[in-house]
Order: sequence, then structure tokens, then C-alpha cells
Amino acid sequence: MDRIRLEGGRPLEGTIAIAGAKNTALKLMVASLLSDQPLVLSNQPDVVDVSVLAHLLAELGVRVEGNGDGCMALDASSLTSMKAPYDLVRKMRASILVFGPLLARCGHAEVSLPGGCAIGTRPVDLHIAGLEALGAAIELKEGYLVGEAPGGLEGAEFTFPQVSVGATEHVMMTATLARGTTLIGNAAMEPEIRDLADCLNAMGADIAGAGTSEIRINGVARLGGATHRMLPDRIEAGTYAMVAAATGGRLRLAGATEDHFGDVAAALRQAGVAIESRDGGIDIRRADGILRGVDVTTRPFPGFATDLQAQFMALMTTACGVSRIHESIFENRFMHVPELMRMGADIEVRGGTAIVRGVDRLKGAPVMATDLRASVCLILAGLAAEGETMVNRVYHLDRGYERLVEKLSGCGAVIERIPG
Ligand code: EPZ
Repeated sequence: MDRIRLEGGRPLEGTIAIAGAKNTALKLMVASLLSDQPLVLSNQPDVVDVSVLAHLLAELGVRVEGNGDGCMALDASSLTSMKAPYDLVRKMRASILVFGPLLARCGHAEVSLPGGCAIGTRPVDLHIAGLEALGAAIELKEGYLVGEAPGGLEGAEFTFPQVSVGATEHVMMTATLARGTTLIGNAAMEPEIRDLADCLNAMGADIAGAGTSEIRINGVARLGGATHRMLPDRIEAGTYAMVAAATGGRLRLAGATEDHFGDVAAALRQAGVAIESRDGGIDIRRADGILRGVDVTTRPFPGFATDLQAQFMALMTTACGVSRIHESIFENRFMHVPELMRMGADIEVRGGTAIVRGVDRLKGAPVMATDLRASVCLILAGLAAEGETMVNRVYHLDRGYERLVEKLSGCGAVIERIPG
């Protein structure tokens, strides 16, 4: 298994080009199932999750062609299967999103239930309830969700009892081909949802309100093809912003948009980080050299993103004072805590809250990556720490960070990937 070795203690300086958003790329690719015309996506990130989904879509009969330059063409004109098998779905939970689009287009779908995951149990009950509201008949058979909608789906009013990014996207995509109007209440408002709606509208859908808590979808008989450039990855941008702050360096995040940071921007500013938007990017540095402890609670957008909680915790380990970090989205998203403590961090976990008491300096150590964002938080901690850090099990990073080692070494980091 590959490892990453790095030597910390150097302020990073330079420009990092932010990739297209991994969490939009996946949904846009799934959207191709709704049409028999090609969908061409650009600014596609080169990450493993995209390849895993491309593999699954190819199993369903989608012709997927990438040109290696961030462009991908998906042609679902001749689907050959309506079944997403366990072996592929278990590799990536977002695969569940093919269920509704297959049902809407073909009237039948079978998708393996994804099972548990490192950061929490992550049920799919909200996805199922939303699709049932559209008239889908759904059963669980031998670990598979089996859905039928032979006469097509019907628009409906459905209010989520709890905000879910994936379920909002799932119902929104599926409802584009339902008869009549669908109203989604308590919808997730992440920028990725608006981007997905923009792409679906370019394909001929009629969606209004995406990016707010109420989405209205007027169903259409068919969708066509489109060309769509996806938005930049706000989590990658936020991660590198925290790298700049943690190392006391200056980074320009080319292509990033501060509007997509939500409450993360305010938390960074409160911590003493200067964020300046100019010329299609963001400049990040410490405002007055000092980092201060800040309390945050993760929440759906525009709240503080759970996908930046681990990185923010790494940043807070060397801030002045105490920071309380409350994780309210996932029940098991503190697996980075013991690893940060091995590097000298002072963190106490009480239920869903981590109390981080800032120390002067972290010390490099061998550490173990456990999931995507926990892994990158250890890289961030290692870059700020004195001495050498070896991060094991870095395959998690490949799922969501494109060319991480190159991007960081381009800004002065001493970092290398060791094949193993
Ligand atoms: C998306 O996951 C992202 N994944 C996650 O990013 C991100 O952490 C999460 O949204 C929250 O922002 C993708 O976009 C591929 P949810 P998703 O449904 O859609 C519960 C990363 O690191 N829930 O908004 O699966 C759920 O357990 C990843 O890039 C139900 O109870 O998240 C969680 O507690 C990890 N039932 C909460 O809702 C359901 O049917 C929010 O989850 C669905 C969700």
C-alpha cells in the first residue's frame, strides 16, 4: 500500500489550481442516465471515485469516454442493464443515486444497498421515501433495492424530515422525468445541487429553486444532451486554505469561489486567516501571524461543512486557546483524533464534540489514514509539524484529491509518495 512521507515546518507559498468538484462530478455523471443523448462534462477531477462510477455506468451500458484533459462524454443511448451490483456499489456509496434515474427512464431498477461506512451508518431511508412519494414501488430483496414504476413516476410534494444532500439530488434528478410537478421541501442547499440543476436544465429539465430549501420540478417527457462545465471543488479549496493557514504560508487558490465556503469563511477569519477574492481565485494567508481557537458546529450548507471538519481540527491543534468542534452530521467522524494526538495534539472527545487545546507545535509521526477527509487532515498536520510524518493507507486520498503531492510540492512542500 502506498504511503506519503513529508517533512513539515515550511510555510507553503504559490498557486494551486482547484479541480472540479468531486461531489458534483459524480451526480452529473449519473444524470447522463436520464437521457439517450450524450452529456459532455468538463473540469472533471481526476480522482478514483470518478473512475469507480465510470466503471459502474459502463456496466449499465453507458459509453464513457474521457480525453484525459478533464473532459468526459457519457452516452446512455443504449442501456444494457438496470442492476448496480454489490461489488461496485460497496466501493462508493454515491452509486445508490443511479436507482431513481434508472427507474425514471426504464421503469425498473435494482441497486445493492451500500452498507455501512467508516464515518457513520449512513442509511438511505430518505432516498427511498422520496422516490416512493413519486410513486415508485420499492422492495428490499437479498440486499438489493428493487424498484418498479412500469407506468412512469408522478410528481408529488415531498418534504424531507432531515436535510440530505444525496437524497435531495436523487429525488430532483428522478423527478425531471415524472409526470407533473414535484415540490421538494427542506431541500439541501449545497452549491453542488444548483450546479446539478443547471446541468439538468441545460438537458431540457424544468427545475427552479435549486440552492434554496424549496425546489420545484416540472416533469418533462424526455431530456436531451448538453455540455456542462462543473463548479470548482469547495472542499479541496477549503483544505488548501487551511494548509496555507496551518503552515503560516500564502496560497492562491485559482478558480476557487469564497461564496461556496459558507460559514467556513467566517470561522477562518475568526481564527485569524485573511481571505481575499480577486481575479477568479482566492488568496489565503494569516492576517497577523497568530491563529486563534474558534468553536464550530458542522451543519448543512451554508453551515460549516462536515467535509472540512477534520482539516479545521488539524488547524486548531496549534491555535492559541481552546476550540470546540461539534460534529452534527455524522456520528463517527472523529477517527483522525487519535492520529492527531500521536503527533502531540491535545484533544478530548466528549460525545459529538472535540475539545482542542492549542499546543505550540505538532511533532511528525507515523499515522494511519482512515477516510478521505481524515487522511488529508493528517497531511495538513504533517505539513505544519516539526520533522517527518509518514501517512499510511493513502488510497483514501486518491478518492477525492487530484494530484495532491504535485500540488503541494509545487508550493514548496517536501512531500513524496512511496509506492508499496
Ligand atoms: C454528501 O454525502 C457528500 N458525498 C459527503 O461527502 C458529505 O459529507 C455529505 O454530503 C454532507 O455534506 C457526496 O456528495 C458524494 P447526506 P451524502 O445525505 O449525500 C443522514 C466526502 O468526504 N441520512 O447529506 O451521503 C446521513 O447518515 C463525502 O466527500 C439519513 O439518515 O450525505 C447523515 O447523517 C463524505 N438517511 C446526514 O443524513 C438518508 O437516507 C446527511 O447525509 C440519507 C442521509
